[in-house]
Amino acid sequence: MSEYRSGLGWDVHRLAPGRPLILGGITIPSELGLEGHSDADVLAHAITDALLGAAALGDIGLHFPDSDPRWKGADSLRFLAHARELVEQRGFRVVHVDSTVILERPKLKDYRLAIREKLAATLGLALDRVSVKFKTAENVGPVGEGRSAEAQAIVTVERA
Ligand code: C5P
Ligand code: MG
Repeated sequence: MSEYRSGLGWDVHRLAPGRPLILGGITIPSELGLEGHSDADVLAHAITDALLGAAALGDIGLHFPDSDPRWKGADSLRFLAHARELVEQRGFRVVHVDSTVILERPKLKDYRLAIREKLAATLGLALDRVSVKFKTAENVGPVGEGRSAEAQAIVTVERA
C-alpha cells in the first residue's frame, strides 16, 4: 500500500512601491509589489515550505538563509525546484498541491492559469494536480489594508 504524506506551508511578505508582484513565478501588473531578500514570491515560498514539510526536511530558511548573498533577488522557483529534488531524493513523488493567496488587490483570477502552468512545470506535475485559489481579507487587518500578502499551501507526496 502506498504511503502518503502531507506538508503545510505559510508565508507573508510586505507590499511596497517600486517592487514587482511575483506570484508562482508570474509577474503581475500592480502598483505595489512584495518586499523581501529574494524576489519575495510569497506563493512559491509557501509551497516550498509545504514540500519540505511533507518530507520533514526543515524549512525554506534552513536551505536558503536570507543572510546568504547568493539568494538576494533570487528567482524563488529555484527554491521550489530544489525542494522538489530534495523530496525526490528521499524517495517521495509529489502528487498534488493546493494553495491560497490572500491579497486585497489587484484581482488575480486572470493569472490563475499562468501561475498553475508555471508551478506545474517546476514541479513536474500535470496541470490538474496544481490548485491555486485567491482570497481578499475583506479590508480587515494588514492584508485587508493592503500592507501585506499571505499564502498558504498544502502538498501531498507519495512514497515512490
Ligand atoms: O475574498 P473574496 O471571497 O471576496 O474573493 C472572491 C473571489 O475573488 C475569489 O474566490 C477569487 O476568485 C477572486 N479574487 C481574486 N483576486 C484577489 C482576491 C480574490 O481574483 N486578490
Ligand atoms: Mg517568503
